[in-house]
Amino acid sequence: MVTASAPGKLLLLGDHSVVYGHPCIVTAVDQRLQVTIEKNGKDSFHLSAPDLGLEAYTKTIGELGEKELPKSVRFVEMLYKRFLDKHPQDHGINVTTKSEFESGFGFGSSSAVTVAFAKALVSLYQIELTNQELFHLCYQAVLDVQGVGSGFDIAAAIWGGTLYYVSPAKVVETLEIEKLPLIVGYTGIKADTPTLVRMVAAQRAKHRSYYNNLFAQASDLVEQGKEVLKRQDWKTLGKLMHHNQSLLADMEVSSLELDRLIDAAEQAGSDGAKLSGAGGGDCMIALAESTVTDSVSKAIEAAGGKVQNVSLNAEGVRVESSTEV
Ligand code: MEV
Repeated sequence: MVTASAPGKLLLLGDHSVVYGHPCIVTAVDQRLQVTIEKNGKDSFHLSAPDLGLEAYTKTIGELGEKELPKSVRFVEMLYKRFLDKHPQDHGINVTTKSEFESGFGFGSSSAVTVAFAKALVSLYQIELTNQELFHLCYQAVLDVQGVGSGFDIAAAIWGGTLYYVSPAKVVETLEIEKLPLIVGYTGIKADTPTLVRMVAAQRAKHRSYYNNLFAQASDLVEQGKEVLKRQDWKTLGKLMHHNQSLLADMEVSSLELDRLIDAAEQAGSDGAKLSGAGGGDCMIALAESTVTDSVSKAIEAAGGKVQNVSLNAEGVRVESSTEV
């Protein structure tokens, strides 16, 4: 029996532009998804994911990936199918997941569950994979399920920490930082990432040079952000976030609710705030040094947001326990 866990993520700079080959900066969030697996001696895959809204789900190995899959099991099932294609086994497994995520906040529970499950599998069968190999196994499963995505969330779940990332893990560089003075506010609205990514792609198809120019500007901000983070120059990081938000607004992925929380944070003394992720809802982040932490948090709450207490720069995927049964 093996238990592994992986963290969620928050995108600091480079949302959407990362899908088009530009870099981004992402940090791992210490809300973890835990997956426990054991061999079941049968020809079946059994999943229990009560925190993801699924009590019990069973399929034979031959049926994996077939028929409409419940959303909460898609990533796990496709990953398992991909894994068995490469490493066939003569028996199935039981899988149980446990989530620390407050559901709906967009911290990346699907990437975390995929990565934690993949780590548990390779550990159960004692298969040595590098982080790059683990990444590509997981990224393939994510593409099977949602068709789009840069894989930055998979990288954050695997490597952890704060990363400078170019898709698909062409560059993964750990930025050595001690802290990140950010406040995270949830809009209360769940956004659908693949839909927003496809929406940007459709707009870009119509206004190619305009969008390419926005992506190139965002790319510049990420390059500056990388240096600024190394120097821990928070004021400048705030300015870069503010500028990135205006590019994201030009990409038409911000929303009234996000704008309201972002404006409130900046008026209360944040050096810069932006949406984090696909936009359309989910979370915003505000740079807030200790002198303004309270005022910025209160302003976000007063504007209708829910401040999330999360710790950033968290550890990547890890095996929690491994026992013979
Ligand atoms: C979504 O959280 C971030 C996007 O850049 C999509 C992706 O990189 O996969 C919008």
